[in-house]
Amino acid sequence: MKRTAKRFTLATAATAGLALALAGCAGGGAGAPAGGGDTEAPEDITVGVAMPTETSERWIADGDAVKAGLEEAGYTVDLQYAADDIPTQQQQIDQMITKGADILIVASIDGTALANQLQAAADQGVPIIAYDRLINGTENVDFYVTFDNYNVGVQQATSLLTGLGILDESGAETGETGPFNIELFAGSLDDNNAHFFWQGAMDTLQPYLDNGTLVVPSGQTDIEQAATLRWLQETAQKRMEDLLTSTYDGGAKELHGVLSPYDGLSRGIITALQNAGYGPDQASGLPIVTGQDAEIASVKLIADGVQYSTIFKDTRKLAEQAVEAAKAYAAGEEPEANDTETYDNQVKVVPSYLLESDIVVAENIESLLVDSGYWTAEEIEKGQSD
Ligand code: BGC
Repeated sequence: MKRTAKRFTLATAATAGLALALAGCAGGGAGAPAGGGDTEAPEDITVGVAMPTETSERWIADGDAVKAGLEEAGYTVDLQYAADDIPTQQQQIDQMITKGADILIVASIDGTALANQLQAAADQGVPIIAYDRLINGTENVDFYVTFDNYNVGVQQATSLLTGLGILDESGAETGETGPFNIELFAGSLDDNNAHFFWQGAMDTLQPYLDNGTLVVPSGQTDIEQAATLRWLQETAQKRMEDLLTSTYDGGAKELHGVLSPYDGLSRGIITALQNAGYGPDQASGLPIVTGQDAEIASVKLIADGVQYSTIFKDTRKLAEQAVEAAKAYAAGEEPEANDTETYDNQVKVVPSYLLESDIVVAENIESLLVDSGYWTAEEIEKGQSD
């Protein structure tokens, strides 16, 4: 790995030895002993945190939690949101580097668009932590904190099968053979996660598509057809409207379920369905709609029997892992990975720390989301459905 240290000295061949540089040993070469000298104060370590957008509440929660954790460790934090605009994110990262960031934590918009920025960071010995979304096509990503994204897709599809009654609560087949009409939505193709969610979901649904229990009347079963650029709610709503017109007689034909990979998309899909006369809730014929992120507006819809499920990914835990990784780099160490096989970014396999996620349905909102303090009962009660 190429690292010509700006402030850092290589503690090992693979690690930007922040601790050494901070200890005033910037002249030491690879393999120089750690420690010694006057240790620079933590507040002199600046961590640049690049987040994609504030339009989805999960990224606001992520940004807040990462910032709070880093500040608790004493570091200075430069947190930026890029309004889902690629040039803005590139510029923000350029600026972080110019302003002397020592460590970068990056949740990318387009996982392939940051190669120049990350090269500049690497040239200055800045360790780069990919946050939630893998950064592809560059050697300059040192660590990756995320969830088991394939399993998130499995969970989304499993909840669709449960909602349709094909599986019971324990995951066992009920013998129900449908056939059920479903439609499929995917996320933004430039987000590496979208492919993992899709793969996990399709591997889970495929046997039921093969045996005719599930049917996709539109025939749109490729990720390219199902994709939603930038994960935009209105784009998903529009596609659902188009599908209802092209395939469901504008709402007259039965649709039983929709695989949706993110709560924002789910709400767009539900709006389209309700406008076409389905529902308004599951009890009155609204199709089973899945989701992801446990956003408050969707949790409220789940509590009200409108959206069927979501996937809870505890962003507090993800933020904690990102902070742990930053601390490790600051100490001249490698962060601890629990997966060194799954995330190949086309240049290398990036050492990763994967967290687990949970399926949320109406029955376990309290135990998963309220008891853990993620949302309060009052927030769910008041949660706005947009
Ligand atoms: C994240 C999801 C999120 C989606 C849209 C993905 O990269 O992993 O949690 O729903 O982006 O923001």
